[in-house]
Amino acid sequence: MTAPPTLSARLAAATALILERTGAPPQVAAILGSGLGGFASRLEDAVAIPYADLPGFPVSRVEGHAGRLVVGTLRASGRLVRVALMQGRVHGYEGWSAGEVAFGARVLCSLGIEGLLVTNAAGGIAPDLGPGSLVRITDHLNLTGQNALTGANDQALGPRFPDMGGAYDPGLGALLEAAAAEVGVPLRRGVYAGVAGPSYETPAEIRMLRMLGADLVGMSTVHEVTAARHHGVPVAGISVVTNAAAGLTRATLTHEEVQKVASRAAAGLESVLAAFLPRAAR
Ligand code: HPA
Repeated sequence: MTAPPTLSARLAAATALILERTGAPPQVAAILGSGLGGFASRLEDAVAIPYADLPGFPVSRVEGHAGRLVVGTLRASGRLVRVALMQGRVHGYEGWSAGEVAFGARVLCSLGIEGLLVTNAAGGIAPDLGPGSLVRITDHLNLTGQNALTGANDQALGPRFPDMGGAYDPGLGALLEAAAAEVGVPLRRGVYAGVAGPSYETPAEIRMLRMLGADLVGMSTVHEVTAARHHGVPVAGISVVTNAAAGLTRATLTHEEVQKVASRAAAGLESVLAAFLPRAAR
């Protein structure tokens, strides 16, 4: 019996294939959340690789959510930057472990990126974060009950006990705010609570999250950020508020409504991304 490939070997296989198909490595990367994948069409000379082609890459079992990695050149603010975009991601609620959920972020980090931007759709808990708000994530609460680094640690990738003090890099955060100001898109700040899902929260859970210091709630992001910090890659994050969290309005929460609002807010988010990504590269 052969031993399963190590995490390092899986990463090496995926990065080798990406570099073979796309040429020059990306300088920065972004993970595009629900309804936010359209930004990929802004890349020039783009090469798209279905996740299913990448060895070891988790592929969503949900129909229509398979996902792909798009690598290309972004021309914005008079600058050129090589960018990798994950269009779609897998979530823990599909049955993937936290380590598997984080694999895509690890692949991006292994390509040698200088910064990672994570985006997501989230429920707004803070009263002033209504649907359509764009929010710079300043910190997170990992309430999923899992950690992406559980299991043996590969010291070559990062330390056993990585510091999460500056998980959302203040320098990249300042660049994000400058980018948003440049394109005239309001950008708020907030703390993101990552929960397991897939059911939305009860009103009592939202009151609890508020007391714990959360401004936003969602079902992604925290494992990817933990893995990126393990690699020592600086992270910035943006949530698109798609709905008031449970109990804050009488509305019934549905995935369709979340996706509809995310798509509507996508234009603002895309202009922020286009202004931010060139700044995030040295
Ligand atoms: N809760 C959890 N995840 C979400 C929400 C929410 O209200 N909206 C979008 N993703």
